[in-house]
Amino acid sequence: MYAIVTGASSGIGEEYARILARNRYDLILVARRKDKLKQLSEELKSAHGVEIEVMDMDLTVMKNVTDLFNKIKKKKLDVEVLVNNAGFGANTIFSETEFDQYNAMIKLNITSLTQMTHGFIEYIEGSSHSGYVQNVASVAGLAPVPYMSVYGATKAYVVSFTQALSAEYDRAKLSFNALCPGMTISEFHEIAGSKVDDSPVPMMTSAEVAQFGYENLKSNKTILVPGFANKFTAFLGRVLPKPIVLKITKMMMERLR
Ligand SMILES: NC(=O)c1ccc[n+]([C@@H]2O[C@H](COP(=O)([O-])OP(=O)(O)OC[C@H]3O[C@@H](n4cnc5c(N)ncnc54)[C@H](OP(=O)(O)O)[C@@H]3O)[C@@H](O)[C@H]2O)c1
Repeated sequence: MYAIVTGASSGIGEEYARILARNRYDLILVARRKDKLKQLSEELKSAHGVEIEVMDMDLTVMKNVTDLFNKIKKKKLDVEVLVNNAGFGANTIFSETEFDQYNAMIKLNITSLTQMTHGFIEYIEGSSHSGYVQNVASVAGLAPVPYMSVYGATKAYVVSFTQALSAEYDRAKLSFNALCPGMTISEFHEIAGSKVDDSPVPMMTSAEVAQFGYENLKSNKTILVPGFANKFTAFLGRVLPKPIVLKITKMMMERLR
């Protein structure tokens, strides 16, 4: 059976691909950097003897996602899992980032994730087996995040979208969950412009986050928060009054700027 991993060229997606290959999944690796995907593909094919399709593409181009599912159908690949992981953020005062950047973020974190899910559901409905979707959201999707306002809002979309789909579909055929990591070691922070050397919270590794995601891929839980510190943060976000949560989050985010 195949698993699709978007954003497999680095960080959480790369580690997720490694774990899936170790667990005998064939893989469809998606990201823009072909060299990185090829390198990972060679490593995993020789280590685990799995089949791998490298699909280097910009997911924000709608036609690319349509082509991806057409290729899957044409090649008659049996796909069971979709890990919608590709995403990026920006850590700035809202007006200090160009709108183009936000537009690209919304296209990747929201539009392409939605299109991938749509294509996958259509594919699974036409197949005789079940499908599992794990959408990589963030603890940033569980409460508003000052200085990452658009990013946090895109991840709140992912959480809401995933919760709605998990209620809409029969879990025996299609299961959905949202993985909500906290700060994780990856290229994410350099791209977002965050200074994480002085992180106010402990950071998990991408491998730890991916392992947690994989272990819970088929669980009945819809929201998956890896690590004790992140679970505690998510809990405080739920129980404390919203203005206090915003004040604390703002203070923490200021440490990262
Ligand atoms: N790191 C954290 O602290 C953290 C915390 C919570 C949630 N997350 C979420 O975890 C997910 C993975 O992030 P990460 O931490 O692993 O960061 P990362 O190392 O920067 O990985 C991001 C991945 O997305 C791919 N990507 C970016 N733009 C793309 C595009 N237009 N088309 C196709 N692929 C694209 C990148 O590959 P190419 O550049 O090769 O395209 C890369 O493989 C993201 O959704 C992020 O929001 C991260």
